[in-house]
Amino acid sequence: MIKTLAKVREFVKSELQYETSGHDYTHITRVVNLAKLILKFEDADEELVLVAAYMHDILDDKVTTNPKEKRRKIQQKLEELNYSAEFIEHVFQIIDNMSFSANLVTKQKLSLAGQIVQDADRLDAIGAIGIARTFYFGGHFGEIIYDPQIMPRISMDKEDYRKKSTVINHFYEKLLKLVDQMNTDTAKKLAQSRQAVMLDFLTEFQAEWNGEK
Ligand code: ADP
Ligand code: NI
Repeated sequence: MIKTLAKVREFVKSELQYETSGHDYTHITRVVNLAKLILKFEDADEELVLVAAYMHDILDDKVTTNPKEKRRKIQQKLEELNYSAEFIEHVFQIIDNMSFSANLVTKQKLSLAGQIVQDADRLDAIGAIGIARTFYFGGHFGEIIYDPQIMPRISMDKEDYRKKSTVINHFYEKLLKLVDQMNTDTAKKLAQSRQAVMLDFLTEFQAEWNGEK
């Protein structure tokens, strides 16, 4: 199992090493480590959780212009590593349904394994790392930092979600909501301090923007 996971890791590294929107290989490593931490307290299939955590961003439309080709590549790699058809199907079930955008309109049903990967990915979207990734993503996609005239959107479908807003609005449109959407107790606890870091940051940002400091 360890040997196979090492091969999965090498594959993901070659796919995402030079990704520049905050979904690079170091994001994957952090998500895998957070998933391992959550796994200590949950009775889920460890190998399934880790393979899905490694693969979860490769075919995302933020990361690739050709998700179909990436799907084929993942399928091929997992077959080559002798994973069963059922296991591979479960991996895709997780990565197709775990994202924030896939859950905007209807909440998708996820297995416990999927809930763990989703929590790990969401934890890496918040806190200090979340702040850094969000500004990095905003720059990459040509968003402005802030405009008090542009209000955060209250409800969005996937298409709206991918339209430009401002980086600061992204905190209100997504990031601050995640603390209440964690699945596992471990993630709920870890999310608390990360939430506080974001709230402090936004308060400080607003004060400096308004010339109060
Ligand atoms: P998921 O892959 O979980 O659906 P997102 O599509 O929201 O997550 O993207 C992952 C991360 O990319 C976000 O947590 C955030 O850091 C960044 N990001 C996504 N959309 C935006 C945006 N419009 N502005 C700034 N950052 C964004
Ligand atoms: Ni991710």
